[in-house]
Amino acid sequence: WPLMAGVAFIAYLIGSIPFGMLITQISGVGDIRKIGSGNIGATNVLRTGSKKLAALTLLCDMGKGAFAVLCAYIFCVSYTSQAEALAAICVVIGHCFPIWLGFKGGKGVATGLGAALALTPFAGILCCIVWLLGAKLSKISSVGALSAFVAWPLLVIIFNQFDLQTPLVFPALVISLLVMWRHQANIHRLINNTEPRIGEKKEQSP
Ligand code: G3P
Repeated sequence: WPLMAGVAFIAYLIGSIPFGMLITQISGVGDIRKIGSGNIGATNVLRTGSKKLAALTLLCDMGKGAFAVLCAYIFCVSYTSQAEALAAICVVIGHCFPIWLGFKGGKGVATGLGAALALTPFAGILCCIVWLLGAKLSKISSVGALSAFVAWPLLVIIFNQFDLQTPLVFPALVISLLVMWRHQANIHRLINNTEPRIGEKKEQSP
């Protein structure tokens, strides 16, 4: 278990890096937590008006999700699948509850997509397609995110021929539930038809 504890801790620390906040601070935009929804993710960075900073945030957040899973794959020769699953869960927890920001972080979408791509490449690619299509058709980022994380565990279950014992189903379910839980405010706004469209700068409470 010390190996697994190490995997969990390192993945959490990787996930804790608040790229959205660092990128906006370094580029002089200011504190992203005081803009738009207050979220540190790429959708909110886009509300600053900079597509480049939003794309960079998206890439970095996805990258850290995939990187944590790849580290587990490289360094844990034994128990690889368990270590990868644990790293995927912990990197998303790190993004949502980063130690550096008083445990107030993001919603886990980009980091979860990166982890999904590294953990379950085929299901992860389809999940990204669902995310892009959902966001493009609805023009609402959270619709894309919620659709993708409903789809991911279902895709993993289908690709594993309904074998619920496979170590891939558990992380897909846990991460998806966490992402949905972090979207509670978005879900309320969707129900009330007040969720902003992508790129809209309208102020929304988180
Ligand atoms: O990636 C997070 C997205 O689904 C919603 O972000 O800023 O609109 O709450 P935001």
